[in-house]
Order: sequence, then structure tokens, then C-alpha cells
Amino acid sequence: VSIRRAEMQDLQHMQHCNLWCLPENYTYKYYLYHGMVWQSLLYVAEDINSGRIVGYVLAKQDEEDEEGTKLEHGHITSLSVLRTHRKLGLANKVMQSTHRDMDKIFESHYVSLHVRVSNRAALGLYRDKLGYETFDTEEKYYADDENAYNMRKWFRKKA
Ligand code: ACO
Repeated sequence: VSIRRAEMQDLQHMQHCNLWCLPENYTYKYYLYHGMVWQSLLYVAEDINSGRIVGYVLAKQDEEDEEGTKLEHGHITSLSVLRTHRKLGLANKVMQSTHRDMDKIFESHYVSLHVRVSNRAALGLYRDKLGYETFDTEEKYYADDENAYNMRKWFRKKA
């Protein structure tokens, strides 16, 4: 499996992977928007033998956070890896790749994401492997009313 930056032709395969893995889905237009504006932050895991996209991270940059504070930061819109390819370190690798670009190219102060409070696998990855901390809990964030942890990982603190 190779980890590489996503190209425009990968976007529909990323969308496909998302549909298999998560109930939070997005229009193709939303993928295109990410691809056109933040291509350097989009990574895929490609199975070299089949040419299939087996994992992806969809990410973007933002200037303003939930409290209206202006601070350049990255945001992970969506991450998933097909069931057949889990526990191989792929999510960890695509996340580290996008973090590196957020830090070095965009000079982000931090990266944020939302995750279901029940998502043990993702929480293990974010907290234990990648150094995210829970910033707050958003009640009934998801369509089925489950709460979300709003998590952040800091690259550099505000001067
Ligand atoms: N149980 C507990 N911890 C886990 C599990 C699990 N099933 N899977 C991964 N982890 C943790 C472990 O700490 C693991 O490190 P280790 O292997 O040394 O123990 C670490 O995460 C890294 O694991 P990876 O192999 O890199 O993770 P993987 O490639 O399997 O992908 C992911 C993890 C993305 C959460 C996958 O399970 C998945 O696609 N789940 C469904 C979709 C999803 O929940 N996506 C995240 C939603 S939040 C968002 O998109 C911002």
C-alpha cells in the first residue's frame, strides 16, 4: 500500500471509501472544493496491486474557529480506511502526512476535528498515537444525536 497526495481523479474513489465507512457523507462538490483549494492536504492510501483507494484523509484550512478567534488552523473533515485494510497503520500515516503540510506549508497553529464519543478506534488513534486533546464536547452534534468530542492538536501556541 502506498501513501501519496490525492489527485483530482482520486476524489470519487475517496467519496466511495467514505460511503462504505461512515454515516457522515458529503456531496461530490464538497470533495471537489477540498481538492481544488487544499489539494496539498489530501492524502490517499492506494493498494498497489489493485489500484484501489483503500483509505483517505480529507482536510482543509480555516482561519476562524468556533469562538470567532482568528488563528490559522487545519481541520480534518473526514478520515477512513476500508475494513479490509484496517490496523495496518494507514490512518496514522495519512494523518501524519496532512499534519506535516498543515504545519510546514500553512504554518497552522493547530489542527481540529470532530469525532463520535463512542468511536473507540478513532479516539485511540487521535489521543494515543497523534497527540490530540479534547477541547470540548458538542452535544447532539451528529444527525442521530450522538455527542462529538471537538479535539485539537497543537503545532505552535499563539505568540
Ligand atoms: N480499537 C482500538 N484502537 C484502535 C483501533 C481499534 N479497532 N483501530 C485503530 N486504533 C488505534 C490504535 O491506537 C492504533 O495503534 P496500534 O495499531 O499501534 O494499536 C492506532 O489507532 C493507529 O491505527 P491505524 O492502523 O493507523 O488505523 P486504521 O488504518 O485501522 O484506521 C480508522 C483507523 C480510520 C478509525 C478506521 O478504523 C476507520 O476507518 N473507521 C471507520 C471510519 C471512522 O470512524 N473514521 C473516523 C471518523 S472521525 C473523522 O473523520 C474526523
